[in-house]
Amino acid sequence: MALFNFWHKKKEETKEEELFPKVDLHAHILPDVDDGSKDEAMTLEMMEAALKAYVVHINATAHHRNSLSPEVEVIGKAFAKTKELRDKNLLPLSLSCSFETEFYPEVEELFKTCRVSLTGKGQKYALVEFTADVNRQSAVAAVFQLSLSGFRPVIVHPERFYFVQSHPEVAGEMQSRGALIMPNATSFVGHYGITAMDTAEKIIKDGFADALASDAHRPDYYEQYLAGCKYVAKKYGNSLLYELTWKTPCKILGYEPESEHDDFDPFEN
Ligand SMILES: [Fe+2]
Repeated sequence: MALFNFWHKKKEETKEEELFPKVDLHAHILPDVDDGSKDEAMTLEMMEAALKAYVVHINATAHHRNSLSPEVEVIGKAFAKTKELRDKNLLPLSLSCSFETEFYPEVEELFKTCRVSLTGKGQKYALVEFTADVNRQSAVAAVFQLSLSGFRPVIVHPERFYFVQSHPEVAGEMQSRGALIMPNATSFVGHYGITAMDTAEKIIKDGFADALASDAHRPDYYEQYLAGCKYVAKKYGNSLLYELTWKTPCKILGYEPESEHDDFDPFEN
């Protein structure tokens, strides 16, 4: 299968097209650890689909839901298997791995003690989602508390939370207290319905989006991810898309991946 290989191209904004290399910090490609990829065959399909969407680096995420989470060792093995699949199939894709953590009051302890709970080399960014019982005030307070402790929560798919849908400006409140805001690119083309689509639009229009991700759970998510990226480029410009899918994700990652060998493995480092 012919797959795009962008490593030889200059990674910079182009005026002509939106199809520059991208970093996807949120994708459930690990085989058989959560509700993402079911098995190794699907993990391979997902990586191939990502490459077709011009993604050159995936941060493989695993849900962390307080007590209901796979063991770190299980995630480590799944990540090693994912790298093996990438190598065996010569995919021009670099990889990292971290939790996507569902917020709970004691989460700070997890961030202090578990390396894989944080995203990227700098070990201060954490992918955070909220449960349905979290409201506007408690979310902003949580972000502020984490920031005071030196962490930078990256709020995943804010457009899917009711408290953001009813008050989209809360994305700006969380941002001003130290969070980064990372909608799913798929939301812009209606993957989660009209309310999430409208909310994602308000977030980006008001300048509150810092990064975009796929939150892929199956290979076909990447078609919608690419459609969402194209929509953003057309409506808001290539320059913004470049910020959201390359510059800021690389900042969170702590480096600009240079080749398919430029992994960040939190289980090794
Ligand atoms: Fe996710």
